[in-house]
Amino acid sequence: MSKISTKLATYFFLVVFIMEIFLMYHLHQNMLNTRVDEEFSLLLANGANHRDVLVENFTEMTIEHIVLMEKNGNREVMITNREGAVLNSSAQSTKLNEKYESLIHNLHNEEDAVIVSDWLTSPYIVSAHPYEVNDQQTGYVVMFQNTDSLNQMVDEMNRHFIISGVVILIVLLIVYFVLSKILTRPLIRMKEATEKLSKGDFNVSLPVLEKDELGELSSSIQKLANDLNHYKSERNEFLAAIAHELSTPLTYLSGYSKVAMRTELTDEERNHYLQIIGEESKRMQDLVKSLLDLSRIDETSFTVSKVYFPVRPFLETIYKLVAPSYEIKEMTLNLICEEDFQLFADPIRMEQVILNLLDNALKYSNPHSVATLHAYKKGEQTILSVTDTGIGIPADKVGYIFEKLYRVEKSRSREYGGSGIGLAVVKELVEAHGGTIEVKSVVGGGSTFQITLEES
Ligand SMILES: Nc1ncnc2c1ncn2[C@@H]1O[C@H](COP(=O)(O)OP(=O)(O)OP(=O)(O)O)[C@@H](O)[C@H]1O
Ligand SMILES: [Mg+2]
Repeated sequence: MSKISTKLATYFFLVVFIMEIFLMYHLHQNMLNTRVDEEFSLLLANGANHRDVLVENFTEMTIEHIVLMEKNGNREVMITNREGAVLNSSAQSTKLNEKYESLIHNLHNEEDAVIVSDWLTSPYIVSAHPYEVNDQQTGYVVMFQNTDSLNQMVDEMNRHFIISGVVILIVLLIVYFVLSKILTRPLIRMKEATEKLSKGDFNVSLPVLEKDELGELSSSIQKLANDLNHYKSERNEFLAAIAHELSTPLTYLSGYSKVAMRTELTDEERNHYLQIIGEESKRMQDLVKSLLDLSRIDETSFTVSKVYFPVRPFLETIYKLVAPSYEIKEMTLNLICEEDFQLFADPIRMEQVILNLLDNALKYSNPHSVATLHAYKKGEQTILSVTDTGIGIPADKVGYIFEKLYRVEKSRSREYGGSGIGLAVVKELVEAHGGTIEVKSVVGGGSTFQITLEES
C-alpha cells in the first residue's frame, strides 16, 4: 500500500462500504418492523371484528359463523368461555388446542392484546380479545396467525438485501480500481518526469490535465522543465559569448606583443603597438569588471540601500565626471534639473546606472550631437532620463537591448567598444530600486532612456 492513489481509493472504498452496511441495516430493520407491525395490527383488527359480531349476537350460530370464516387460511380462531374452555375452534386438528391450552386457560387481559409476539421462533402469533355479553357469558376470542408467511417474507427480503449488497460491493470495487488508476497514471508520469529532470534530462513533456490539483502540479513540473531547458541553453550561449568576447582582445594582445618584440622596429613604432596592447588590456579589464557585476546580479548580491539625498548636486557631480569624454568627442551634454528635490535611492548604484546610460549616449552618437540628462518630479514619481540624438536602435531590436551580452550591431562592436552588459546591469539595478526603465528610439534620430522611481 505504498501508492497514495491506492490509499485514497481504499479509504474511499472503506468509508462508502461501512456507510452502505449501516444504511442497509437500518433499512432492513425498518422494513421488517413495519411489516411485523402490519401483521399485528391486522390480527388485532380481525380479532376485534369477530368479538364485536359475537357481542352483538351471541348465539351458537354466530360462533359457527366466525369459526367458518377463519377456516382454510393462515389464521385460526378459538372462542372460549369464562372457564377458559374452548367453545369452538377453526383448527382442524386438536394440536393447536393442546399446545396453547395453558395459555388459553390463563388469559387475564381486559383489553385486546397480542399475547404471543415472538414471530421468529413461535409457529403462531396470538392475540386475545375479551368479550362480555352478560355476567354469564364472558370469555375470549383468541386469534392465531401462522408465522410461516412472515418468515418467508423475511427470508425473501434478506435475499434481496444480500443480492443488492453484493452488487453494490462489485460496483464499489470497480470504482476503487478505476479511481486508483485515474489517480495513479498522472502521478506515475510526474514521478518519471522528475526523475528525468534530476538526471539532467530536461526534455520532459507531460500531458495537459484538467484544472485540478494534479493538473496544476503537472503544469508546474512542465514549467520547471521548460525553465531549466531555457537556462541550460542560455548558459551555453552565454559562455560561448564570453569566450568569444575574451578571445578577440587576447588575439590582439598576443599578435601585437609579437610584433612589438621585433628588434628592427623604431621606438615610435614600438610605442604605437604597446599603446594598442595597453588599450586592448584596458578593454579586457573593463569586460572582466562588467562580467563580475553581471555575476553579482545573478547571485542577487546587489544590495540597494536607499537614502534621501538632494538630486541636483548628485547629477552635477556625474556631469563633471563625464563632461571631458563628451568634450573629446565634441559633443554637447545638457543637464536639466530645474527643481532640486530629494531623491530616495542608493547613490552609488544610481550613479552607476546614469553613468552607463551617459556612456551609451556618448558611444552611440556622432560627434557634434547633443545629449541631455533630465531629472524632474511627476506627482509622487521621480523621472530620470537620458536623451541622445545618436544612431538610434532599430524597432525590432529594442526588445533585446537589456539582455546580457546583447549588442545591436556586433560587427561594429570594435568601432563602438562595449560588450552588451551595461544595460543588463542598469535594468537589474533600477528594478532592485523598485523602479522601471523604458526606451524610445528612432534609427538615425536618437534614443531616450527613461527611469521612473516611486517615492518610498
Ligand atoms: N543610446 C543608445 N543609442 C543607440 N544604441 C544603443 C544605445 N544604448 C544602447 N544601445 C545598443 O544597445 C546595446 C546594448 O547596450 P549595453 O549598454 O548593454 O552594451 P554596450 O554599450 O555594448 O556595452 P557595455 O555597456 O557593457 O560596455 C548596445 O550594444 C547598442 O547597440
Ligand atoms: Mg553600454
